Amino acid sequence: MTAPFSTVNDYTAARVRGFEASIFAEFTALALQHQAVNLGQGFPNFPAPDFVLEAARRAVAEHHNQYTRYAGHLPLVEALAAQAAQDLGRSIDPLTEIQITAGATASLYTACQAFLDPGDEVILFEPFYDAYPADVTMAGGAPRYVPLHPQADGGWAYDPQALRAAFSPRTKLLLLNTPHNPTGKVFSAAELAEIAALCQQQDVIVLADEVYERMTFDGQPMQRIAALPGMWDRTISIGSAGKTFSVTGWKVGWSIGPAPLIAALRAAYQWITFCVATPLQAGVAAAVALAPAIGYYEEMATMYRRKRDRLGAALAAAGLRPLTPAGAYFIIADTSAFAFPDDFAFCRWLTSEIGVAAIPPGAFYSEPHRHLARHLARFCFCKTDETLDAAARRLAAIPKP
Ligand SMILES: Cc1ncc(COP(=O)(O)O)c(C=O)c1O
Repeated sequence: MTAPFSTVNDYTAARVRGFEASIFAEFTALALQHQAVNLGQGFPNFPAPDFVLEAARRAVAEHHNQYTRYAGHLPLVEALAAQAAQDLGRSIDPLTEIQITAGATASLYTACQAFLDPGDEVILFEPFYDAYPADVTMAGGAPRYVPLHPQADGGWAYDPQALRAAFSPRTKLLLLNTPHNPTGKVFSAAELAEIAALCQQQDVIVLADEVYERMTFDGQPMQRIAALPGMWDRTISIGSAGKTFSVTGWKVGWSIGPAPLIAALRAAYQWITFCVATPLQAGVAAAVALAPAIGYYEEMATMYRRKRDRLGAALAAAGLRPLTPAGAYFIIADTSAFAFPDDFAFCRWLTSEIGVAAIPPGAFYSEPHRHLARHLARFCFCKTDETLDAAARRLAAIPKP
């Protein structure tokens, strides 16, 4: 695994002492060292759409540059409320049912601070987005892991028995990421209904991390757990402008949910960053309001499906069997045709010898389950076609197994 931070010393609080530098630090450095085509970290290497950039430029020029409402800039919560009303089939109060945060990351952190008491348990599917366990433990909570397993058809499934067994009287939250990073799984209506029923029986709140909500492929519908009967009152739906509008550096995210749950987030968030960059919120507000009218979401999903297929074909030709994702912008490939001890060794070799950086998904599993990722590698396809083609040429040079 990666090395602990060198700053860890006697002054370091117990809650962060065990943290390692993120896997992206190691692989970004390795990619730079070997001038590898970097398909590691999931951010677009192409410009954001003009209408998004122009909206932020205008906001700065028009002097939206001071603190704003700490729950969120009014035009943004209004635009998101209108959009969420469509998505969830209910009216949303922009003033009490939305909290804007510094990226989805801050929504996740804030929710854990707002809902967890020491010893409370949180159910996480793994592989997980790497911030989840840290968010839980920093709030004094304890993660309970439920692995997803690759299926013969390229999809991923959890064992329903394992999910039921993960609940206990201490379970407070369940974190559900759909479309899922890194597998690309889009949870089905039947799975969501099963998860919803368990959460209602056990009185558990769902944090629905839906940052890839606009990226589903092949007609796969985006299903929202908050829209299921009885779930609105116990669900916080989390989104991010970074993913949807290719502006990951803006760090504008949001939580949408019932007023009592949002009030708890608000109580915590006022002391975390107070408010998020005003002109960027104004820019995202304009983008959210305009996007449906210009067909932006459909266009983006089509672009990503093409990129998925472009990278998928290159991986398959190289003997790295792609587990074709139904959503998000990552492909997990099965590397078992190649004899490496584990995914870390494979990805280090691929980066340094072949010149294509991928991420070992073992970094997204708890220690006892890390072996499940031994023959897997994660590639992201939110890159220009030129970058994907450069990766394809290098992958073609891999000696056949
Ligand atoms: C599943 C998931 N949740 C949350 C985030 C963080 O989003 P943001 O950049 O808006 O903080 C990411 C970023 O990669 C992600 O993949």
